[in-house]
Amino acid sequence: MRRTNSDSITQAAVPAYGGRRCGLRPAAWRGVRRPGDCSTIAVAINPSTYGQQRGAVQDAASLLPTRETAVLKTGMTPSAIVRHLDQYVIGQDEAKKVLAVAVYAHYRRVAAQSAGDVALAKSNVLLVGPSGTGKTLTCETLSGLLGVPFVTADATSLAQSKFVNEEIEAILLRLIDKAGGDLSLAQRGIVFIDEIDKLRAREGETRALSGESVQHALLKIMEGAPVRLGDGRYLDTTHILFICGGAFVGLDKIMARTHGFGFIATSAGDDERILERLNRRVKPTDLFEFGLIPEFTGRLPVIAGFQDLTKEMLVRILAVPKNSIYRQYVEILRAEGVELAVAPRVFEQIAELAIEYKTGARSLRGIFEELMTPILYVVPDDPGIARVELVSLFEEARLIRKA
Ligand SMILES: Nc1ncnc2c1ncn2[C@@H]1O[C@H](COP(=O)(O)OP(=O)(O)OP(=O)(O)O)[C@@H](O)[C@H]1O
Ligand SMILES: [Mg+2]
Repeated sequence: MRRTNSDSITQAAVPAYGGRRCGLRPAAWRGVRRPGDCSTIAVAINPSTYGQQRGAVQDAASLLPTRETAVLKTGMTPSAIVRHLDQYVIGQDEAKKVLAVAVYAHYRRVAAQSAGDVALAKSNVLLVGPSGTGKTLTCETLSGLLGVPFVTADATSLAQSKFVNEEIEAILLRLIDKAGGDLSLAQRGIVFIDEIDKLRAREGETRALSGESVQHALLKIMEGAPVRLGDGRYLDTTHILFICGGAFVGLDKIMARTHGFGFIATSAGDDERILERLNRRVKPTDLFEFGLIPEFTGRLPVIAGFQDLTKEMLVRILAVPKNSIYRQYVEILRAEGVELAVAPRVFEQIAELAIEYKTGARSLRGIFEELMTPILYVVPDDPGIARVELVSLFEEARLIRKA
């Protein structure tokens, strides 16, 4: 067992950005293990204290749709999907639920249609929420669970292209590529189009070059037209699920203006919670102010809202997810035979800084990496280091030496 009693061990502070020059470049450090290392790592924080997982996750592999039919296997219920998402995406409970139900219903419809039942219209999804709050992450995690190919595209770059249809074809080709060339698998994939709130027509722009023309081009594939590819093949987009995302900055103000029970008659007996939920609903008309045309919003009937991340959520993002930044560094140092201990206060300080930077969880990685850089600079050169302790963002790391 690694020794953790710091009384009998010497401590050294890491120079802020420096240390001795070492001969090995970072890429060469990875996986280096010193003889006699032991793998037991003690951590100062217990990630699980920052968040409760919603019970054990079922064996995800057993829930995957079969490749041939895209039928969701028994057990792949919306709540099982949410439980899977919970392992990677912190918070955003309502959005996860909405998305899980939409995806579940979509693949159920696909199954019903393959079985020759009634043709059901599909419900593409719109994710609304600030930058860096988990929209793309949630969709990526979902596609991983479902075992369907997933591609992302950017509406702004579509709007800047003179050849929108070629760009859209390129997106579909990427989807086929992700499906390993399997056309039928690609036809059940997920396409995520980001920055959909940036398609407003700008003054002086010709219609052909405007965001509106992008919306028209997208309409066709979103409702399920067969698309002829350059090589003569056809890709049927009927069963492709389109998820659009956007920050829609200022939407809350628009909603505050346009909502207020409107035409919904209220009486003393009405359930306040239901009324509040109805009022929190983004109406398609709220999106017109962002340049979205009615035909387009009409094809995005399901809307999931992502919320700003609180300090507590940011702390959990740092430490809890299976692939969290903190866990990644624990592993990197473990490979060096060094134990990493980070005090809870440090996570809180990083979260506070991230809130100031206003880019959601995006800045967490940068701040954490900055903190780790001087440590990773000296540790590979010094086999005497047994443990690294971080107690504050404003204090140098303590390097605890082997006795
Ligand atoms: N709710 C969350 N739970 C866990 N990690 C998160 C969460 N939100 C953001 N992150 C982290 O921040 C990174 C950026 O998030 P993501 O790409 O999902 O943002 P986004 O909402 O799509 O932003 P944008 O509107 O700018 O595209 C992710 O890779 C992930 O590491
Ligand atoms: Mg994104």
